[in-house]
Amino acid sequence: MATLSLYEHTGRQLDTLCELVGFDSADQRPRKLLGQLLGPGGESSLADPPPFSSNVSDDTTPIEFSLAFDTTGECAIRVLGESIGTPSPRHFLDAVAGEYHLDTTRLDTVGDLFLPRGEHQGPFSLWHSLIFRAGRAPRIKVYLNPQISGPATANHLVSEGFRRLRIPGAFEQVAGHALPRGEQDSFAFFALDLDRGPLSRVKVYVAHEAAECSDVERAAELVPGIDPLRIREFCALLGGGKGPFRSRPLISSYSFVEGDHDRPSNYSLYFPIRSYVPDDAVALARVQAILAQYDFDGTKLDEAISAISGRTLRNGVGLISHVSLRLGEFGSGITVYLSSEAYRVMPARRRPALGLPH
Ligand code: TRP
Repeated sequence: MATLSLYEHTGRQLDTLCELVGFDSADQRPRKLLGQLLGPGGESSLADPPPFSSNVSDDTTPIEFSLAFDTTGECAIRVLGESIGTPSPRHFLDAVAGEYHLDTTRLDTVGDLFLPRGEHQGPFSLWHSLIFRAGRAPRIKVYLNPQISGPATANHLVSEGFRRLRIPGAFEQVAGHALPRGEQDSFAFFALDLDRGPLSRVKVYVAHEAAECSDVERAAELVPGIDPLRIREFCALLGGGKGPFRSRPLISSYSFVEGDHDRPSNYSLYFPIRSYVPDDAVALARVQAILAQYDFDGTKLDEAISAISGRTLRNGVGLISHVSLRLGEFGSGITVYLSSEAYRVMPARRRPALGLPH
């Protein structure tokens, strides 16, 4: 069999996932958008070494999928991606802005902060996400990197970004709840929805190194009405306890929509489950437990996993990379992030032994 290109491999995965959530299989838009997002790097053969080492996923594949379960009963497929080999970071957006009626006003307002000319630092400059829901037009979101000019200026970029987007009170609130532990808490992403409308979001993400569950409960308290028990249960079911979670950091995000002046209307917690389980069979069992807890259809997840991978789950770790809990007025649910594993399957770790040493 001829070796596939990166685009062909991820495109097949995306088609099957979209079909699973009821997206019209005759609709070519998901696959076309994926190709445009990947850019020239998508044509590279998977038999060759990766043309670029992307931080989107552990094996450097510049694409990661996710399956979002909403309390409305809807499911969405999302793609997080990084363009490879395009002439400028804005290339993809410029190419699709007209067709998808993107509103880039907010991105233009903060662009010089997060996309400075010259030297860049940190793991990326611009990522995109594509969101596909049955019967609706695809949506597009961008992720900017607060660490782009180094850790010392990250807070300034975020506070200036909020100020320019007319939510000047947000920084102090976010810092008070999510950044109280010095260097252990840091801004990871600044994200913008590119659609028009009152529910279009400004999102900010904070990574918490070695956090206890109580640290993320405090972070969640910024959004009025969140039951801390939901957070505790999520950490316990996925991570087996209340921390500290010393492997990959837990991540918090806040979403601000029109009318949110200092307090956001949504909090999400991202749990990097792959760092806390020996293999994907254990990861799946834990994720199924949290889906069942909220009465989400776990068979959809089984199907999504079969759609993108034929491997035995026990033989690797990281196919399920993160799980997020979304809580708030404008959409609650659970999202499961699934790696493409286009280049590599990360090796499983040994399962712990039960019993006493002899
Ligand atoms: N791979 C990076 C990480 O694990 C970035 C990333 C990809 C990420 N998908 C994510 C971060 C989902 C949080 C949630 O950190």
